[in-house]
Amino acid sequence: MTRKRVAILISGRGSNMSALIEAAKAPDYPAEIVGVFSNKLDAPGLDFAKANGVPTVAVSHRDFASREAFDAVIEATLAEWRVDYVCLAGFMRIFSTGFAQKWTGRMLNIHPSLLPKYKGLRPHQQALDDGATVHGCTVHWVIPELDDGPTILQAEVPILPGDTAETLAARTLLAEHRIYPEALRLLASGAISAP
Ligand code: GRF
Repeated sequence: MTRKRVAILISGRGSNMSALIEAAKAPDYPAEIVGVFSNKLDAPGLDFAKANGVPTVAVSHRDFASREAFDAVIEATLAEWRVDYVCLAGFMRIFSTGFAQKWTGRMLNIHPSLLPKYKGLRPHQQALDDGATVHGCTVHWVIPELDDGPTILQAEVPILPGDTAETLAARTLLAEHRIYPEALRLLASGAISAP
C-alpha cells in the first residue's frame, strides 16, 4: 500500500490535527502525515506534532506584504513535503484565489456546523441563537469560497437544554475527531475522489 502524503495546516490548538496524526499511526491507515504548517509561531498544536515526530514549519503571515506572498511560502513547503492532500484543521487564514484554485480537489476542511448552515465565525452560537435542536460538523472539499464546497462527511450532535456555545463546541469537537480521520481514510484509500 502506498500511503498518500498529507500535510495539515493549523493556527491553534490542533485537536483535529492530533486526531489525524493518531489515526495515521495505524499500519493500515492509507495516509501518512508528512508535515504540519502553522501561520502562528506559538500554535499549541505544533508541540503535539513535534512530540509525535511530525515535521513542522511555522511562518507568520504578518511578515508578508500580501496574501499571495504568504501563500507562496505555504506552496513551497507543500512542494518540499511532496504532498498529495492538504487537511485544514483550524487554519484561520483565507487563501488567495490562485492558491485555493490550485489545491481544489486536493484540500479538505472541517467546520463545526452542518453546512450549509452557520458558516464563518461562532457557528455554535449561531446555532443556539437560531433555536436549533441539532448541530454537528462537516468535512468538505475546499473551494475558493469560505466554508463552502462539496460535503464529504457530516455528523450530527444534539443540542441539549442549557447548552452554551462552549458545551456545544465540546460535544461537536468529539464528532469532529471521529469524522475527519474517517473522511481522510475514504479519500486516501480511493473510496471517494474529488468531485
Ligand atoms: C474546530 O472546531 C474546527 O472545526 C474549526 O476550528 C476548530 C479548530 O480546533 N475549523 P482544533 O485546532 O482542531 O482543536
